Amino acid sequence: MGSLLWATLFLLFSNLVQLNAYGRSPNSEAAGSSPQDMEMEKKSLKTETRFLLLSSENGDSCQIQLHHLDTLDKCSFNSSLPLVIIVHGWSVDGMLEKWIWKMAAALQSQKSNQVNVIVADWIALAYQHYAIAVRNTRRVGQEIADFLEWLEEAVQFSRSNVHLIGYSLGAHVSGFAGSYINGTNKIGRITGLDPAGPLFEGTSPTERLSPDDADFVDAIHTFTQEHMGLSVGIKQPVAHYDFYPNGGTFQPGCHFLLMYRHIAQHGFHGITETVKCAHERSVHLFIDSILHDHLQSTAYWCSDMNTFNKGLCLDCKKGRCNTLGYHIRKQRQQKSKKLFLVTQAHTPFKVYHYQFKIQFVTQTEKPIEPTFTMTLIGTKQDTHNLPITLVEEITGNKTYSFLITLDLDIGELTMINFTWKKTAMWANVWATFHTIIPWATGPHHPQLMIKQIRVKAGETQKKMTFCSQDMDDIQLYRNQEKTFVRCEKDSKTRKQKLR
Ligand SMILES: *[C@@H]1O[C@H](CO)[C@@H](O)[C@H](O)[C@H]1NC(C)=O
Ligand SMILES: *[C@@H]1O[C@H](CO)[C@@H](O)[C@H](O)[C@H]1NC(C)=O
Ligand SMILES: *[C@@H]1O[C@H](CO)[C@@H](O)[C@H](O)[C@H]1NC(C)=O
Ligand SMILES: *[C@@H]1O[C@H](CO)[C@@H](O)[C@H](O)[C@H]1NC(C)=O
Repeated sequence: MGSLLWATLFLLFSNLVQLNAYGRSPNSEAAGSSPQDMEMEKKSLKTETRFLLLSSENGDSCQIQLHHLDTLDKCSFNSSLPLVIIVHGWSVDGMLEKWIWKMAAALQSQKSNQVNVIVADWIALAYQHYAIAVRNTRRVGQEIADFLEWLEEAVQFSRSNVHLIGYSLGAHVSGFAGSYINGTNKIGRITGLDPAGPLFEGTSPTERLSPDDADFVDAIHTFTQEHMGLSVGIKQPVAHYDFYPNGGTFQPGCHFLLMYRHIAQHGFHGITETVKCAHERSVHLFIDSILHDHLQSTAYWCSDMNTFNKGLCLDCKKGRCNTLGYHIRKQRQQKSKKLFLVTQAHTPFKVYHYQFKIQFVTQTEKPIEPTFTMTLIGTKQDTHNLPITLVEEITGNKTYSFLITLDLDIGELTMINFTWKKTAMWANVWATFHTIIPWATGPHHPQLMIKQIRVKAGETQKKMTFCSQDMDDIQLYRNQEKTFVRCEKDSKTRKQKLR
């Protein structure tokens, strides 16, 4: 990314670096309010946090006041419906961000899944130096816990019907709410949307959002790219299921070049828009999961993005995959599971993941740098000339595994048209090869062949094997399309031919 962007990030975080230089830990109780203060605050009827119930009809907000039962009625809180509380993060301009209303509208648009939507507005405490806002997260968490305890006492509203959705610092606020609420029962669900990194990364579970904070905790990490030891979003897992879209470091469509367009559109404000792009992507992925019921994104358990890019993780056995967003399968885990997926740069974000395993046969030990294109023909539609560049060179007889993602649902894959592209590098190797073993060029001495292409579709968990349609000529020729068809049925005879 460009240095200007990083300079902006640096400015945003320089406050906290300065504060840290005094050796104060903003997270410790000593720096914040003392337990007595907390007790006082608990007793007082007024909270700093404003609880705004949003009307599903016109989106108007109505403030519910702790210990004022009449405000529940006045605002038409429906205690027979679940409650979602949206918790925003750190504020650089003292305004509630636009995504909050989009999220609320999405939640309210679900006709068969109605919920009360409350925004926990703690903007006065969030529009501060970062480190001070961080210190305030505990207090806001306490106030949300108080609010939920009161709902339980006043209208027997069970905390297990509560879902806190916290973005950035709001994710940790939600975590504190979960750990401060009294009694043994926990809040139903907490979703952390790119939980904030600075001053939380590497801290103990009690100092940040953690799986202990609710019956079920999920998190989406979208901006964990590190600069000078800091990343905007937290890198470590903090939930039962931690999603890392596109690896979690940065997001497609958020690139530095786009910043100029943002600046052209929004003036200087465009800089913060760009900084927020990848961070806020977590929010939009979540909203997308509510709005596109039929386009749910699946993510897969994996150690890291490199392994994922080899297509090695598309497994759904034993809870190894899950659905990103609102409709996640709420299956508790002993340990945090890191799930990976690829997304598009815009809504709908869903892609279809495939593992391709190509078994090459070559006569030469010389490394080959292959560039291919594939046309995938499916029962619903085709994708034309997907460019494929293997990370590794082809040496000898080996099977290569890689990930392919498609924006389209092609249905079931029925045929692959494969073209081996001529590259400068290749032509060179080929020339040498010709010179050394001139007889190898004859049509009866194939140089590069594909024995099999094995495909696994992540979304359907279907496995398929493809073989050359014309088994009498299985050699690849440059720039010549080769067709591969399903070969499971008559695999025996084909294998014999290959031998
Ligand atoms: C509250 O929600 C329930 C369940 O959807 C519904 O039957 C009831 O009419 C709602 N109450 C009010 C006052 O809207
Ligand atoms: C939580 O604390 C409040 C008072 O602080 C009390 O009235 C309430 O019964 C407690 N709830 C549980 C579940 O322990
Ligand atoms: C690859 O296997 C084929 C037979 O299947 C063999 O003829 C060829 O020499 C092998 N290539 C290398 C580089 O070992
Ligand atoms: C794929 O190859 C087959 C056989 O060569 C051809 O008939 C078909 O039109 C090709 N499909 C596409 C989509 O290119």
